[in-house]
Amino acid sequence: GSTLCTKIPIPCDAVIAHRGASYQAPESTRPAYLLARDLGVDYLELDLQRTKDGVLVAIHDNTLNRNTNVADVFPDRADAAVSSFTLDELKQLDAGSWFNASYPDRARDSYSGLEILTLDEVIDIAESGDNHPGLYIETKVPEQFPGIEQDLRDKLEARGWLGKAAKTRPAAEQGAVNVGDTPGRVVMQTFSKASLETLEETMPEVPRVLLLWLGKGGIEAAPAKPQRDDESKADYYARQQVASPEAYRSWLDFAKDHGAIGVGPSAIQTEHDGQFSSQFSYMELAEPWMVGMAHDDGMLVHLYTVDEPADFERYQQRGVDGFFTNRAEQLLEFHGHP
Ligand code: G3P
Ligand code: CA
Repeated sequence: GSTLCTKIPIPCDAVIAHRGASYQAPESTRPAYLLARDLGVDYLELDLQRTKDGVLVAIHDNTLNRNTNVADVFPDRADAAVSSFTLDELKQLDAGSWFNASYPDRARDSYSGLEILTLDEVIDIAESGDNHPGLYIETKVPEQFPGIEQDLRDKLEARGWLGKAAKTRPAAEQGAVNVGDTPGRVVMQTFSKASLETLEETMPEVPRVLLLWLGKGGIEAAPAKPQRDDESKADYYARQQVASPEAYRSWLDFAKDHGAIGVGPSAIQTEHDGQFSSQFSYMELAEPWMVGMAHDDGMLVHLYTVDEPADFERYQQRGVDGFFTNRAEQLLEFHGHP
């Protein structure tokens, strides 16, 4: 990583458990967050949404079909938005069996019947145990949840999490010195420029990161090109979409103008088991010049979503400041954590 973490109150080489330890356990569920916490990650990552009756919950997709049995329990509402369900209804869903069916090699009987979690429940997990990770919270589809930033602020305040210092791994493990007792136990992230503005107004003291992506609504991309017969899928994805320096510059400027401490670009993934491990894996938004441009502006670079040691190595060489990862165990091992 860069030396920016000595100036910005965020752990160096941040280990951010994407939806928990979501390679080993169903994403955003209790075992996924417990595993990540007990591994010693810096942050538990979660995507924030709000139920019909106003409860903050940790769910990634805007619908429930991919990773719950909503089609069995509420057959007419399989494609309905999360916001149309009450907490009581969400709690009736099984958010773990899909994982056992999709990943038989990682399946466990205890995963079937897992519940969707509220933000309160994720905070409970972070507060228990010995490691006390922070929370790295994304406002998801914020345009569907007006006022969610204020709701979050109220909740964090009620739970005593505003202004709480980040726990950091010992400096020796991070390869750099940390600034210590400063705010940063909660970091906010969003793809939405509007939500970044609202977060700046609503919780100015909480560090914010603007997530970067290519395509409609994100950074302007050059048109896709056809795959050549002689190139791998990885090479094809790597060259098919390119951000212009001007477009990248304008997103960095927006982030900086709204007090963000950094950006969260997408990474190119090495193929794993014949498949890319993220739907965003074809977006390279951390080329060396991009990381350099962010660092020259004093902005941290936290990269999503990176799971493979070859990718940790490549991006570490470029000086990125942390990774969102589904495979927290592998990343901690990469950083020399026992
Ligand atoms: O929050 C970083 C990364 O999680 C963004 O992508 O779709 O997994 O929320 P997504
Ligand atoms: Ca996210």
